[in-house]
Amino acid sequence: MRALALLVLLAHPAMAQEGAALFRRHCASCHDVTPGAPLGAGPNLAGLAARGVAGDARFDYSPTLRAGREAGRRWDAASLASFLADPDEAFPGTWMSPAGPATAPQRDAIARFLLGEGG
Ligand code: HEC
Repeated sequence: MRALALLVLLAHPAMAQEGAALFRRHCASCHDVTPGAPLGAGPNLAGLAARGVAGDARFDYSPTLRAGREAGRRWDAASLASFLADPDEAFPGTWMSPAGPATAPQRDAIARFLLGEGG
């Protein structure tokens, strides 16, 4: 999956740029993608493809995301897209409110950006 995400990024630089721009607009107020950057309101999202759910050791996650980590859940294109579409349906009780853009292709672009970034 990680290789696939990288391939998509390499094959479609315009789409990768779109994902980065959408991330800046919708997510960067709470999240950083630079490893080790100061913590914001949300966890750092660097290397999301290589780590499990609730994988930022510095962040104090909600019980539902911690349970996801304990269950060995991982982030991939599908799980990210559904979390962004409806965070509370994907992880009932999560502290993240719906923040993603309105359309599925835009959410997919953000997911691809996150899975390629440092992944
Ligand atoms: C207003 C702040 C805020 C915004 C805006 C926001 N998030 Fe979040 N996000 C959070 C918080 C808080 C959590 C932790 C939720 C929890 O513990 O239940 C989180 C968790 C996450 C996680 C899980 C991380 C992990 O380590 O497992 C992902 C992925 C994520 N957000 C992606 C996004 C994306 C992509 C966007 C933009 C479309 C976004 N977030 C916008 C606050 C935000």
